[in-house]
Amino acid sequence: MAKEKSTAFFCSECGGEFAKWMGQCPACKAWNTLVEEPVVKIKGKAHAPALQSENAPSTLQEIDLKEEDRFSAGIAEFDRVLGGGIVPGSLTLVGGDPGIGKSTLLLQVCKNLSENHKVLYVSGEESLKQIKMRALRLGDFADNLSLLCEINLTEIEGWIRRMKPEVVVIDSIQTMYAEEISSAPGSVSQVREACAVLLRLAKSLPVSVFIVGHVTKEGTVAGPRVLEHMVDTVLYLEGDRYNAYRVLRGVKNRFGSTNEIGVFEMCTEGLKEVPNPSEYMLSGRPEGASGSVTVCTMEGSRPLLLEIQALVCRTNFGMPRRQATGVDFNRVNLLMAVLEKRLGLKTGDCDAYVNVAGGMKLQERAADLGIVLAVVSCFEDIPLPESLVVFGEVGLSGEVRSVSGAAGRIREAEKLGFTTCILPKSALEKQTIRTKMELIGVSGLKEAIGYLQKLKSEKQR
Ligand code: TYD
Ligand code: MG
Repeated sequence: MAKEKSTAFFCSECGGEFAKWMGQCPACKAWNTLVEEPVVKIKGKAHAPALQSENAPSTLQEIDLKEEDRFSAGIAEFDRVLGGGIVPGSLTLVGGDPGIGKSTLLLQVCKNLSENHKVLYVSGEESLKQIKMRALRLGDFADNLSLLCEINLTEIEGWIRRMKPEVVVIDSIQTMYAEEISSAPGSVSQVREACAVLLRLAKSLPVSVFIVGHVTKEGTVAGPRVLEHMVDTVLYLEGDRYNAYRVLRGVKNRFGSTNEIGVFEMCTEGLKEVPNPSEYMLSGRPEGASGSVTVCTMEGSRPLLLEIQALVCRTNFGMPRRQATGVDFNRVNLLMAVLEKRLGLKTGDCDAYVNVAGGMKLQERAADLGIVLAVVSCFEDIPLPESLVVFGEVGLSGEVRSVSGAAGRIREAEKLGFTTCILPKSALEKQTIRTKMELIGVSGLKEAIGYLQKLKSEKQR
């Protein structure tokens, strides 16, 4: 009789299970991600979900949804990323690099919530004294917050069932372990089991659970991708560790729109909300310097003004250097190729550096026009007016293409005192935008650069 196998291979990216090791995961095609782990067979009904008569199927009409179902976390930026507050019985994953401020943020949320909700904070990473030291920096806490230092899931489940809190924070999922599984905490099967236990608890009690998850070097939550599939909401806390600002980004949200962001600043008393991020990001802009352009991008439903800087200078080497910080390196190369081919800008023997001031990461194509104008402004040494804001996608033929949300972008720029805006002509024609700003619609890069040259000749006169 064939011996029953006691181990299997799991993909740490997608969570797929295979009988033998392979260099590439057949399911998600990631390389070198299969790890050997014991197969656990749970006997009996120890973990059978509670199936009671109240859990019978119902029609949509029978379900009543009240607005007050959500409750506020006491931090407006946090609520906004969640889609308007915490949903009872939801499971939220908060990911981020080590030391970015996940524990701080969640302890602050606990502080606010504990004023009128029962909250349990479970830490598998820090001792009670360490948490108290952090709490002292954050201010006064109400009595409704209980702390527990525990990594055993059965114990944690027991305490949650006994205490019946409304909100539970698990810091972090990688430190939790289930006794039935023999692999070490943080391994694929442990993380998956821990998440499954918490999911069942969240839905059956109900209790809102926040899980802290560490992020790997590649930028995904350590452990299997299935974690992201299991939870209701995935939030990422991003930012440069050496920079004070932090962005909380919604990546997945079953209760609201994704890509919403909340902006915070790390201070000595924890994370402070930044209600007007554009103003914050633009502070310290240089005056009258070439190569600096303000762009308006959209982060979710929120327009955000950022400064793009470019430095173009003659190279001292055979191979020109290109560097991009905060924007896609390949996009910068592509846009410079467009400039060379369509406008005859000879940047082939120049080093080029493009940077987004403030350390933000820009992914939206609407920043293309900003990158192009910053490069041209530096190359031709034409400073752009500080009251100018631009947005638009640039195509390979040098055309400026429309982007969504033009009205919102213009409104935000006007609010911050900008007076001129260069935008795609098609976006200008499509919308009726009432504004006091001077709107310059351009259909191609030639027109946009023409504006720069007009500025130069006006200056020389
Ligand atoms: P932490 O929340 O421990 O990070 P994570 O849980 O994501 O690993 O954040 C730790 C960092 O935050 C640490 O470098 C110190 C800084 N910090 C402040 O600057 N001010 C504060 O009030 C607190 C509590 C932390
Ligand atoms: Mg922590």
